[in-house]
Amino acid sequence: MIWLIGNKGMLGTEIALLLEKCGVPFAGTDREVDITDKASLTAFIQKQEKPISWVINCAAYTAVDKAEDDAETCRRLNVSGPANIAACAKNIGAKVIHISTDYVFDGKGVTDEGGIRPYREDDTTNPIGVYGLTKRDGEIAVLENNPDSYIIRTAWLYGRHGNNFVHTMLRLMNERDEIKVVDDQRGSPTWAFDLARLLLSVIKAGGDGKNIPFGIYHFTNEGNITWFDFAKEIYGQGRELGLITKNCLVKPCASAEYPAKVKRPAFSVLDKSKIKTALKIEIPSWEISLKEFFTGKY
Ligand SMILES: NC(=O)c1ccc[n+]([C@@H]2O[C@H](COP(=O)([O-])OP(=O)(O)OC[C@H]3O[C@@H](n4cnc5c(N)ncnc54)[C@H](OP(=O)(O)O)[C@@H]3O)[C@@H](O)[C@H]2O)c1
Repeated sequence: MIWLIGNKGMLGTEIALLLEKCGVPFAGTDREVDITDKASLTAFIQKQEKPISWVINCAAYTAVDKAEDDAETCRRLNVSGPANIAACAKNIGAKVIHISTDYVFDGKGVTDEGGIRPYREDDTTNPIGVYGLTKRDGEIAVLENNPDSYIIRTAWLYGRHGNNFVHTMLRLMNERDEIKVVDDQRGSPTWAFDLARLLLSVIKAGGDGKNIPFGIYHFTNEGNITWFDFAKEIYGQGRELGLITKNCLVKPCASAEYPAKVKRPAFSVLDKSKIKTALKIEIPSWEISLKEFFTGKY
């Protein structure tokens, strides 16, 4: 059985719906089983009638700006929580899938002979804010407490549940005549449903850690763009599909125009060769996945 932790969040909801649809047995928990309290995790495990063979952790402190003033809580959730989960999983012989982020990098990119290239799994991490730092330390804590773990770093997630960029854009574009969107941060929009499917493939293929060695992997949709490019495509597809019912001018701007507590990585593009080779998969492009999301192709 799979234990899905954080099943009420954006990604967790998507995974829960997919597991239900595929008839995969799982138990989902969210805040009611507090990941920062090891006794609460242990009590949950003891109550289960079926053995838990996999634990997927989607619970996290994800408020990137708020984290700057709330570092202690953020660290409890993003480091102690995952450490507890990994240790409990190890005790019962379960494998872990833990979700991490592009924010573990500083967003300056890595330059080689061909110019700036996407981040690989073994590139040096250098988080520039509390959220990224705690997520990076969480990765280390998971692997230290349970080496039979997969860390999946992703970025720019959106899905049917929760607040995310696509929902915000649709709302604003239906309300306003003009919006400005930052054009100096580059990354890869990622449909939570594609990530959910990927995680299920890892579970199906990576049972013994041999076919897919444990460790860190990157997964996003294919392609990379700026938030402005993404907004333009949301507008184009949204108008075509009748999700946006009025004209709205989408204009580019610089991040500096939106003062924020924490700097966002300017270059968040992740190299996905490792997961593609391990699972022998193709990853859909961000444009195609956006259309599938809009047209409900689940
Ligand atoms: N969203 C993105 O763009 C993005 C990008 C890259 C990586 N990620 C990573 O992907 C993962 C999933 O992100 P998401 O956007 O789906 O997050 P999310 O929507 O914020 O979901 C996190 C869930 O964890 C729950 N939670 C909070 N504290 C908890 C606790 N002590 N015990 C148990 N559950 C608790 C939250 O409850 P409350 O809502 O009540 O707090 C929420 O339901 C995270 O690891 C995140 O770092 C996200």
